Amino acid sequence: MAWMRDEFFQMPWLYEAIVGSVCTAAALLLTLRWLERRRCLADFRKARSCRETALGEMERAVSQLEESKRSGDSESILSLSLHELHEKLQSGFLTPDSVLHAYMNKALEVNKELNCLTDFLPDCQNQLQSFKEEKKGLLYGIPISIKDNIDCKGHDSTCGLRTFLNQPATKDSVIVQVLKKQGAIPFVKTNVPQSLLSYECSNPIFGQTVNPHNTKRTSGGSSGGEASLIAAGGSILGIGSDIGGSIRVPASFCGICGFKATGKRLSTIGFRASVPGQKAITAGIGPLARDVDSLAFCMKALLCEDLFRLDPTVPPIPFNDEVYSSSKPLRIGYYESDGYWLPSASMKRAVMETKQLLEQAGHKLIPFAPLKISYAMNELGLKGISADQANTILERIKGDIIDPRLKDLFYVHRIPVILKKILYFLMKPFNPRMADILRCLCGVGSISDLWKQHTAREAYCEEYISLWKSQNLDVLLCPALGPAFLAGIAGKLTVTASYKLIFNLLNFPAGVVPVGKVIEKDEDELKDYVGYYNDFWEKTFKKNVSDAIGLPIAVQCVALPWQDELCLRFMKEVERVTQKNRAI
Ligand SMILES: *[C@@H]1O[C@H](CO)[C@@H](O)[C@H](O)[C@H]1NC(C)=O
Repeated sequence: MAWMRDEFFQMPWLYEAIVGSVCTAAALLLTLRWLERRRCLADFRKARSCRETALGEMERAVSQLEESKRSGDSESILSLSLHELHEKLQSGFLTPDSVLHAYMNKALEVNKELNCLTDFLPDCQNQLQSFKEEKKGLLYGIPISIKDNIDCKGHDSTCGLRTFLNQPATKDSVIVQVLKKQGAIPFVKTNVPQSLLSYECSNPIFGQTVNPHNTKRTSGGSSGGEASLIAAGGSILGIGSDIGGSIRVPASFCGICGFKATGKRLSTIGFRASVPGQKAITAGIGPLARDVDSLAFCMKALLCEDLFRLDPTVPPIPFNDEVYSSSKPLRIGYYESDGYWLPSASMKRAVMETKQLLEQAGHKLIPFAPLKISYAMNELGLKGISADQANTILERIKGDIIDPRLKDLFYVHRIPVILKKILYFLMKPFNPRMADILRCLCGVGSISDLWKQHTAREAYCEEYISLWKSQNLDVLLCPALGPAFLAGIAGKLTVTASYKLIFNLLNFPAGVVPVGKVIEKDEDELKDYVGYYNDFWEKTFKKNVSDAIGLPIAVQCVALPWQDELCLRFMKEVERVTQKNRAI
């Protein structure tokens, strides 16, 4: 060996050439990365300045309407429920101009603190003009906010990702078309997490949206801009999408109601999905609002002939008023913990107190043991959504800057499969849940494995429904994640998704209703929280949901597929029986 070394040093030109080219390559690579980063930041700056321009245009529209508006003062308009607003608009007591003016003004005002708006939809002004000739639809004159990933003609659906900047939608999504046909006025678009796959509503383009109840807390995600805006009074009705709690988590964090319909009950044409092509979990669409009646009213308006004509793949089932307004006592299954993620004290109390109140109201409550949640979450959910070894997601963040709050989410996907497998074996004895998650993130191997994966999911759904049927349940009451986490941490706590994600996997309609607030007793009890494994996640959760007295808490209401009206009726009942608790 010695002679080789000598030989080598006797050829300084070779040595220099090697060192030289390595250094040049490294420098070139660094320069390229630096340039890419600069281009990326320039794209973000441009997108932000477009937003400034749009919001400036919105301010001008507000002052124009200020001059022309004919009825109602803003304060009293903003205090009306959707139902009251609807009646006053139909009767002509209020004009759409004055209502839109009030909401645009309020949205701009709350946006300064919450950072929930990403775009203004100037088409709302044209709609005001065109109203004069048309007959009044169910949502006539109701301003409505739209989540970022839902196409509105001429505007970006960014998903908080660089790759989707500067690609304005060529037409309105079907839902937006139907809303307009019903007379609703989409007026703003709202913020989302980068890639939509987080409960932390933050992206490197538009920044972080915060919670109106406490701006140190997150609004939740991914429909976090919607929930924040509505809870703060800047919108009366919003449309979101939900692939693992994306409507329900922000609604419960912000203390409003949110409903995820059965997938395909509403049209997904013109919705940008985070992981298109995966069949493991079903995205649901639905409304967010301050009360359950508003959600039901929006569903009723959407489930119309126009929807069935514009998207023939949607089953033509109109809203069933009879089911929604029935007062027949219900058989309600309930659980306070799913065995995968130990709920916080307030999550549990919310369920148990609601259970009692429902019993007092004459309903029958039956304990329900949710079926194999660990298996469903990891083996079916996670493995299913990462079946492609997360290549779809990695493709979408290529050349993007990762939001510092979401680093954990993306970096875990970047770990090479082989390393994930090694980590799985090392971690298994200490933390089987964490280990299992790593294993499932490796995806499935072949197409036949993928088919087995789909078959296993179908079998699980069948088994779950049989269990439900064997207890003869109408609906299910269970925890809603909460209270709102401190801002910046939800990116580390994706594991808490089990309470919500399970109903995307099963494709059951599900919604959340606020039932009260965190009290001192919850805080005391939380001090003893160690979770199931006392691991990093559980410690993080405990610390970051503590100190939350006064923040809203909610419960989740669930029904079988296509029983959307029954689910809403149950939500309405929960809202009614908990009314006193909410007022405290
Ligand atoms: C939230 O969790 C993180 C991670 O465990 C921790 O560093 C931070 O201190 C927590 N926040 C509070 C207020 O305890």
